[in-house]
Amino acid sequence: MALQLRVYVPPHPLIKHWLAVARDAATPSVLFKSAMTELGRWLTYEATREWLPTIETTVQTPLAECAATFINPEVPLVVVPILRAGLGLLDGAQTLLPLASIYHIGLVRDEKSLEVSCYLNKLPERLDPQTRVLICDPMLATGGTMMRAIAELTQRGVDPALMRIISVVAAPPALQQLSVAYPGLIIYTAMIDEGLNSHGYIVPGLGDAGDRTFGT
Ligand code: URA
Repeated sequence: MALQLRVYVPPHPLIKHWLAVARDAATPSVLFKSAMTELGRWLTYEATREWLPTIETTVQTPLAECAATFINPEVPLVVVPILRAGLGLLDGAQTLLPLASIYHIGLVRDEKSLEVSCYLNKLPERLDPQTRVLICDPMLATGGTMMRAIAELTQRGVDPALMRIISVVAAPPALQQLSVAYPGLIIYTAMIDEGLNSHGYIVPGLGDAGDRTFGT
């Protein structure tokens, strides 16, 4: 069967609630940051289903021995927040994945040409091919930033089929581009919006996620 991009929009009331808070232009920066943290938490919860490697064993309760499932600590787990805006989702992701290594990537897109350039890359030279990578970027607009982040990861040995992306709002141009380049990819997003305006902003979207998270 041919691989196909999968985009999940979890129908969870907490995700809907925090998305509504984040979308509202009247939401102050401090509350916007909380909304991002909560969205990071719940989207990570959804995205890690059937993705976190587990081991089956037994434990001794005070009464009897019983079957038990643990997260396998031997399979490397990585979270990659794409700076700046991805930092907003990181706190929530990290509370659920406290043992994951965090590697930051700083990508910025030129407002006019929409070209993406990398100003920070903390990824190691090689990653174990078994590594599970959760990429955090709240806005999938043109897809250029995510394409670059995935390219940096695949160059280091990560299998796109072991990646999961969490985003808050995704737009069709990004999904189209990612589906052509990485058909096995899986994305968890709070919403798929209509499209982009002439400046590459998602409409209705939530504005500039980095500026709103950091009050700039
Ligand atoms: N980045 C943002 O922060 N917002 C958008 O709408 C698109 C890209």
